[in-house]
Amino acid sequence: MAFFNTRSAPKGSEIFAVLDVGSSKVVCLIGREEVGLGIRILGAGYHASAGLRAGVVVDMEAAENTIRHAVEKAERAAGLAISSVFVNVSTRSLRSRHIHLDTKFSSGEVANKDLQRVIDQAFSEFHEPDQAILHALPLNWSVDEEIGIKDPRGMFGTKLGVDMHFVTAGVGILRNLVHCIERCHLQINGMVASPYAAGNGVLVEDEFDLGVTLIDMGAGITTAAVFRDKTLVFTDALGVGGQNVTNDIARGLTTPFEAAERIKTIYGSVLDSPEDDGQMVPCPPMGAQDELHHEPLTLLTSIVNSRVEETFEILRDRFRAAGIEEYAGRRIVLTGGAAQLSGVTQMAEYIFKKRVRVGRPHGLLDLPETMSGPDFAVAAGLIKHIFENKREAVSGPPDLSGRRVRTRRYEGGSILKSLKWFKENF
Ligand SMILES: Nc1ncnc2c1ncn2[C@@H]1O[C@H](COP(=O)(O)OP(=O)(O)OP(=O)(O)O)[C@@H](O)[C@H]1O
Ligand SMILES: [Mg+2]
Repeated sequence: MAFFNTRSAPKGSEIFAVLDVGSSKVVCLIGREEVGLGIRILGAGYHASAGLRAGVVVDMEAAENTIRHAVEKAERAAGLAISSVFVNVSTRSLRSRHIHLDTKFSSGEVANKDLQRVIDQAFSEFHEPDQAILHALPLNWSVDEEIGIKDPRGMFGTKLGVDMHFVTAGVGILRNLVHCIERCHLQINGMVASPYAAGNGVLVEDEFDLGVTLIDMGAGITTAAVFRDKTLVFTDALGVGGQNVTNDIARGLTTPFEAAERIKTIYGSVLDSPEDDGQMVPCPPMGAQDELHHEPLTLLTSIVNSRVEETFEILRDRFRAAGIEEYAGRRIVLTGGAAQLSGVTQMAEYIFKKRVRVGRPHGLLDLPETMSGPDFAVAAGLIKHIFENKREAVSGPPDLSGRRVRTRRYEGGSILKSLKWFKENF
């Protein structure tokens, strides 16, 4: 496997490719950074998914074919062939771990090697053999009793501490995903948690700074990421998405899944309105023995409402349990195809008591118009993530071997206030 060093890779003329492997579609983007202009999309393609469910490969051959089709479309559009990709990770097993570590140092003045030693120790504290580390972000440093330090290098003291944020995912699931992509003759350059990528695709600077929760509402999975002070501080995932809404409609209105999907996008809404009373929805028959029937629109709305409300409530409770709810700021940004459901922002405002908007990709040159919706936030964010030199303590694809993870030399950057700091100070 190729290793990627985020600080040296993207140069002017280099070309990178990303894959968003989703439950309903696989997207491939090929891009290049143009100095002074930004990231230009050279080729883009997507294909309806088969063999994939909530980020998990459930049918290797079908998933492989889907990926091949998406990649071929992007390659054709770009007029070139790719050999490696960065890929998203959105599985139920996606989670955050925060580790605080203090070390004594005798040299008097904090140097790079001290930072590296503390980070290395944080890695060795991480004992979860079934979880692979996708991201490792130092959130906050402390020297002696001084906390909330941006960059401790050059400071004097005897004790150096760090709050590390690890984003991890199940090793088995990642192995299957890697295997599937390698069967398409593509190397994996790196893996990025989906909501982290989506955040990079749609958020604006003020949101990153002041605190924001991004919720990516896909077909099979809903993932969340909290950003604050320009960094990722928390992630979570729930194995529920737009497909569950469709399934509920199919069952509740006794109609096939494909018809329920159409009904959802045409008539579906999370909120009812007075005009809905008395309106009926045509429901195609389940089979040859059945007939077209009509069901009240108010029934459809109550089905959609229940599922979306429940999803948001579970997420809100998880944020509360993690102590992140207040820290996450006053804003929520929704991405993913299911964020297009009518009334979904109002429901999110009601449940989370925050301001809510739908996020669409921005800041990419020549991104096709067909990919300008919230369902392309992850793909767009993945390609931005590569070119934006994210400062992380782990590089390359995650280590799925069970050995200790590789770390790279810490080179400084935005080292930020931590959850721990927040909890202790408010
Ligand atoms: N206009 C719309 N109104 C309501 N729902 C929609 C609309 N358009 C798409 N969806 C829903 O969005 C979901 C697809 O979203 P998306 O493309 O983000 O998923 P994905 O990335 O393929 O899957 P996942 O991220 O869960 O693996 C589907 O469930 C689809 O029904
Ligand atoms: Mg998705």
